Amino acid sequence: MPPAPNHAAKSSTGFQSNDPRDRLILALDVPTIAEAETIVAETKNVVGVYKIGHQLAFIGGLHLAERLLDAGQKVFLDLKLLDIDNTIAHGVESVSKIGATYLTIHAYPKAMRAAVAAKQACGGSTSLLGVTVLTSMDDADLAEAGYAGRVRDLVAMRAGQARSSGMDGLICSPEEVANLRPIVGPDVLLITPGIRPAGSAAGDQKRVMTPADAIRAGSDLIVVGRPILANPDRRAAATAIVAEIEAALR
Ligand code: C5P
Repeated sequence: MPPAPNHAAKSSTGFQSNDPRDRLILALDVPTIAEAETIVAETKNVVGVYKIGHQLAFIGGLHLAERLLDAGQKVFLDLKLLDIDNTIAHGVESVSKIGATYLTIHAYPKAMRAAVAAKQACGGSTSLLGVTVLTSMDDADLAEAGYAGRVRDLVAMRAGQARSSGMDGLICSPEEVANLRPIVGPDVLLITPGIRPAGSAAGDQKRVMTPADAIRAGSDLIVVGRPILANPDRRAAATAIVAEIEAALR
């Protein structure tokens, strides 16, 4: 692996790394393990964290996660857990045994408290991330789901609850970072999907920002899927995003 560029990490946050690659999470949203393995090989030493979500988890993605972790990669299990406390607790225990780097839990207070208590009880090192409101949701989608308020208010409320529950970080839109940092303080990681380099299609994401703008806004890490996956040269696409991150950190 080439030496890490020497850039000071943003001092306003708790994320400790001088290497801009560590801030890039690639969402392995592809239909087969073989494809995911190809993408990991193509982007090795450029991408800091590989995210395995629902699409792969049910077809061997958890074994892939174990292989990647054994090989020294960081792995984000984006399983977005939400269940009764007992089930959440046992889920967190099992993910801790795998040794995943990150795990998502929907930011409901009881679920978050159960997850943090289980992590402490088992001595796990997986960082627990609360999903505030999915970045594909806008106010109209919230209303359709039965919520009376606005996205930004619900996100702020859940962020405060995540902090008081002892969660390690939050998934949120890059547009929300500036509002959330004062709520969660310096040590809670703010991780942002909804990233679109200039010129790429938004798809179903409704609240998007470029990689550089997201980092400048104070995101600790960014999650990128389709802008890398759909590029014929994925390594080049990931490298360009790392360069944007690096420039934004200067
Ligand atoms: O392809 P795209 O860059 O939109 O992928 C974004 C990734 O981030 C997807 O894997 C999606 O599931 C995930 N995500 C999100 N919004 C959240 C939480 C996770 O888009 N609030």
